[in-house]
Amino acid sequence: MTNSAETKELTLTEELIAYIEEWKDKPGNLIMVLHKVQEEYSYVPRAIAFEVAKLLDIPLARIYGVITFYHFFKLEKPGEYEIKICMGTACYLRAAEDLIKEFETLLNTESGTTTPDGKFSMEAVRCVGCCGLAPVVMIDNEVFGKLNPDQLPAILAKFSR
Ligand code: FES
Repeated sequence: MTNSAETKELTLTEELIAYIEEWKDKPGNLIMVLHKVQEEYSYVPRAIAFEVAKLLDIPLARIYGVITFYHFFKLEKPGEYEIKICMGTACYLRAAEDLIKEFETLLNTESGTTTPDGKFSMEAVRCVGCCGLAPVVMIDNEVFGKLNPDQLPAILAKFSR
């Protein structure tokens, strides 16, 4: 979760301001700018969304409309490590839901959130393209396949140092 001190510190970088100026009058500018913002901050901070609205001269509600429509954009700062639990058909049929429950227990958090220490965020995702390894979990770019819940503590330990 974002605290107010952190929000205050966030302002648009000069590079982003220049990017917005460049895209201001072009079609599709909002999506392009939001991609760039997320590339910079790994999510779209509220303070930045305000500034983007001002510079593009559009209502803030339009920005949030786009962010909530496209699941790609994040409103919360992701954890240092992003856990993605595949819930595509092959993984679902091999009990991927049990992996979600076990992660929720181990991290004491819910799917779709970030742990209070900011270390891990977790979310269920669509097929990640390695169905032969189902059920699959990705942590950042590392793929873990053919998993069962008993293996998860050791995997988390690897990222908890
Ligand atoms: S369904 Fe999980 S990798 Fe394809």
